[in-house]
This record gives sequence, structure tokens and C-alpha cells, in this order.
Amino acid sequence: MSGSLNIPRHVAIIMDGNGRWARERGLSRIEGHRAGAESVRAIVRAAGEAGVEFLTLYAFSLENWVRPRAETSALMRLLTHYLRREVAELDKNNVRLEAIGRLDDLPKVAQRELEEARRATAKNTGLTLILALSYGGRAEIVDAVRGIVADAHAGRLKPEQVDEKAISSRLYTARYPDPDLLIRTSGEMRLSNFLLWQMSYTEMWITPMLWPDFRKPEFMRAIEDYSKRQRRFGGVEPA
Ligand code: FPP
Repeated sequence: MSGSLNIPRHVAIIMDGNGRWARERGLSRIEGHRAGAESVRAIVRAAGEAGVEFLTLYAFSLENWVRPRAETSALMRLLTHYLRREVAELDKNNVRLEAIGRLDDLPKVAQRELEEARRATAKNTGLTLILALSYGGRAEIVDAVRGIVADAHAGRLKPEQVDEKAISSRLYTARYPDPDLLIRTSGEMRLSNFLLWQMSYTEMWITPMLWPDFRKPEFMRAIEDYSKRQRRFGGVEPA
């Protein structure tokens, strides 16, 4: 735990800038992603140590499938290796690994490795690490609406029973609290289809630092900044 800081329960991160980091060094984009995977390791550890309960990482968006095949395949291999290599370490650090997104789109070997990592860490009680994979915020809402329509058709749900809870409980994130803090690296000021429903009141923190350079000190700066903020959720400041 970190002294008197107000630690966000749930931190979501858009890990951006691997390609630029690699280009600046004359390296391939894949090498940028490899360096990015090292930041993932460091930040998972830092978040656990700080007492964050949920960490959601935007590791691969639905839109990312349009990248050249060589890059998407390399990212999938990197994910598979990460899971294989890190599962023991995650388990040792009491981290529970989960995933959200259209996971059926992933290569079978990645799906198997994810399942294995989930199973191996399911009983852990520390940080919950949620990897967003083949994830799109609008697609997630579409999937929830399909579920609502199916329930309505089956006579299990009336129109007046469709409220925010009915939607939230059908999202991939049904079992998690909404993110308190969104971090985005590499200076871009957009949401990029990430957790659209869930981030209605999320505090944002954007750094120009590229993801492969993002390590514990910058993560703690984000937490400290969050700690000083007054969240009003549409209300007024208390007197
Ligand atoms: C954005 O950088 C990053 C991604 C699309 C993938 C994120 C993947 C990792 C950090 C590594 C693997 C993940 C795990 C969980 C092991 P970009 O390629 O869009 O960078 P650019 O905008 O500079 O081109």
C-alpha cells in the first residue's frame, strides 16, 4: 500500500506508442511491442504493490486486426509467450488473470494459453489483471443489446426492466467496478473505442511518454495526480 494516497480501485490503460518508440530507435515495430511487454510486466507489479484491485490493459483492439498480418501474428505470439512465461510470476504475486473482448477471434493457441493462465490464477485474491483482447467498446455494447433482445424474445425481460443495470450486467465487465482512472501513453487525446459505457465518470491522465518507457515512477505520478482530484459525479463540491 502507498501511504496516504487515495488509490484508485480500477485503473484502465491505453498502451500506446510502441511503434513510435521503435521507429525512433531504428527498430522494427515488433521490437517496440516486445519492449511494451516489459512495461506490462513492470506495471502489473507496480499496480499490485500500490494496492490497485483491478487493472485493465488495452492489449489488442478489434480495429487492430486491420494491421499487416505480420504484425497481428507477432502480437498474438507475443501474447502467447507472455502468458506462458508470466503465469508462474503472476501466481506468485497473487494476481488473478482475466480477459475481455471477442476472445473467439484469437488464434486457438492464444485462447488455450489464456484459459490455462485464467485457471491457474483463478483463486488468487490480489490484483485482477484484465487483458482487453480483440476488444471494441461499441461491439461490447452490441453484444449486450443482443443479449437483451434475446431475453425479451424469450419473455424473460420487459421493456420497462431495461435500465442501466440491465446493460452493465451484460457487458464483458459485469463483475468489475467501472474504472476510476484511465491512463493513456504517447499523448493522444482519445478513447479509441475503449470501455465506452464504463468510463462515463472515469478520471483521465495522459502522458506524452511512449508505452515502452512507461514504468513505475510515471505510473505513481498518475496515481498521485488522481489522488488529489475531487470526483463529483455530476454533483457539486461538498461545502
Ligand atoms: C499500441 O502501440 C500498442 C498496441 C496496439 C499493442 C499493445 C501491446 C503490447 C503492449 C505488448 C503485448 C501485450 C501483452 C499483454 C503482453 P502502437 O503500435 O499503436 O504504437 P504507435 O501508435 O506508435 O504506432
